[in-house]
Amino acid sequence: MWHWALIAASLQTQAIPMEDLDLKAMVQEWGQPQKSRSVDGRPLSIGGVRFERGVGTHASSTLTVLADGKAVAFRAKVGVDDEVGTRGSVEFVVLKDGRAAWRSGVLRGGQPAKECQVSLQGAKTVELRVTDAGDGIDYDHADWAAASFEVLAGAKLRVVARPEEAPMKIASHRRDRTELHGPRIVGTTPGRPFLFRIPATGKSPLRFSANGLPEGLTLDPATGIVRGRVPKPGTYDVKVEVSGPAGKDRRTIRIVAGKGKLALTPPLGWNSWNVWGLSVSADKVRDAARAFVETGLAGHGYQYVNIDDGWEAGRAPDGEVLCNEKFPDMKALADEVHALGLKLGIYSSPGPKTCGGYEGSYRHELQDARTYAKWGIDYLKYDWCSYGQIAKDGSLVELQKPYKVMREALDSVDRDIVYSLCQYGMGDVWKWGNLVGGDLWRTTGDITDTWGSMSGIGFAQGKIAKYAGPSGWNDPDMLVVGMVGWGPSVRPNRLTKNEQITHISLWAMLAAPFLIGCDLTKLDEFTKDLLMNHEILEIQQDPLGKPPVQRDLGDGTEVWTRRLWDGTIAVALFNRNFAAKEVAVSWSSIGVQGSPRVLDCWRRKDLGRVPNGLRQRVPGHGALVFKVGTPKPAW
Ligand code: GAL
Repeated sequence: MWHWALIAASLQTQAIPMEDLDLKAMVQEWGQPQKSRSVDGRPLSIGGVRFERGVGTHASSTLTVLADGKAVAFRAKVGVDDEVGTRGSVEFVVLKDGRAAWRSGVLRGGQPAKECQVSLQGAKTVELRVTDAGDGIDYDHADWAAASFEVLAGAKLRVVARPEEAPMKIASHRRDRTELHGPRIVGTTPGRPFLFRIPATGKSPLRFSANGLPEGLTLDPATGIVRGRVPKPGTYDVKVEVSGPAGKDRRTIRIVAGKGKLALTPPLGWNSWNVWGLSVSADKVRDAARAFVETGLAGHGYQYVNIDDGWEAGRAPDGEVLCNEKFPDMKALADEVHALGLKLGIYSSPGPKTCGGYEGSYRHELQDARTYAKWGIDYLKYDWCSYGQIAKDGSLVELQKPYKVMREALDSVDRDIVYSLCQYGMGDVWKWGNLVGGDLWRTTGDITDTWGSMSGIGFAQGKIAKYAGPSGWNDPDMLVVGMVGWGPSVRPNRLTKNEQITHISLWAMLAAPFLIGCDLTKLDEFTKDLLMNHEILEIQQDPLGKPPVQRDLGDGTEVWTRRLWDGTIAVALFNRNFAAKEVAVSWSSIGVQGSPRVLDCWRRKDLGRVPNGLRQRVPGHGALVFKVGTPKPAW
């Protein structure tokens, strides 16, 4: 007998069927939640058994219910709806105050329904979640069949769409003071073209100077753009100064000339996919590049302007890959991007076709690498897609093979091209992405702008963070902030502001690439403040690239720490609960001594010397980030 049943028996309770709740606030990644129907509108059916009542949804989905301590239990029969046959795989999770209280384990199409019974005693909030079980959301039609809450007699349940808390105020990115930003270490292959725009902001006009530039490089003092070729391998410490009407700033930027040094810090840039999907065009890419300069993103170190799927046509008779009508002249586009001191990225697949059904590089790898070099491409995202039909099996040899082939092709051209592997984490790519010559590798399926998707990906990355570091980064997918759309029309982001703060804090602590996925011509102030916070970018771009230590405090809150190159420690406090919570961390628990100096990064506020530790209120689904200690720059 379940203990909730005993309790229920001793109390006056009543049942509230799940389908009677207000489902408008249920967030899901495909389709709409259906009352007593599958997501496609058919009668609910799991493992050949029909159910009269329940809710049909689609992964990833979340329904958040305010129970206020008045719920006793939840029960349901869950599974993948029979309308997808044996396809689809999901996991159902019931969370009590932000902690998983019940998990179904992975359920696949065709399997019988699993019985869910959970005590909800004392719960303030209950979340009913369906995840994609880590393999993408395709065919994930999920049913909460015969689902009902048992509540105290007369109690009502309220469904809420989002945390009701006010967004945390973060510092404005706007300041007159002259300031240098961006990577403190950049790499190049000896003898190949080098391009780097020194990131700086402040009241214009700015003037740049550099002392100690290696032979072969020249600086344009008006734009801060450094160009040339470094002939010899070596490490060059360049003293950079920027001055303007609002003062001066100085820092040493280390230039490393050697093999495989293109991503000494995680890439900062933009990618067209989360905003434009397959409707990307040269005009949209050009607009993005211009926006890098106009908004200050370039001034903060963002440099890669990356075209995702949707630029390709077929091949010419000689086999050369062709651009479609949306990209009339790729070389001219690259020239324009380079003139701004920025870099251009492109996308392809080792398979015959890309995920969007466009031309892939299969059997044309060398020719494509040469074409990219001829156009002036600086970054390649190489997406598995249809290579699944070519690979003999799922063995490591087969998973690695196509990535090695393209690595060799890229090595043979006279151009530095950052190599981004995309195969959704198959075969634990973080363990071997570096061995096949990747500069970064996707660790997950596609992200979307829901708390379930973003936080599910982000918080799970802590345990594989140790595999990432300079020249080989885990890539938990592109940022979902600002106006997104995955197609021709854009819409506001579905993450709340606090959730977006969590997103950027997580990715920064993870040293994950910041590849913005929104319409840069429609950046609002909040999104700019998120993306151009100097302190947060310093953590993300930290030259040591150390993995964070993740500590789960067991109440839906987490403390993450990371050692930085200047001897300080980044400390992030996360609250995965729906409601605000106080999070405390003692200095002794994270190896800090005395009363260190503390900087509140999101608010850009110096807290002075702080004894003992931190105790802070963290908004629901929100985060705070601090820099602890007195910086002693390593160079
Ligand atoms: C997916 C990939 C996405 C995007 C898309 C393009 O496989 O994960 O990030 O590149 O293909 O078709």
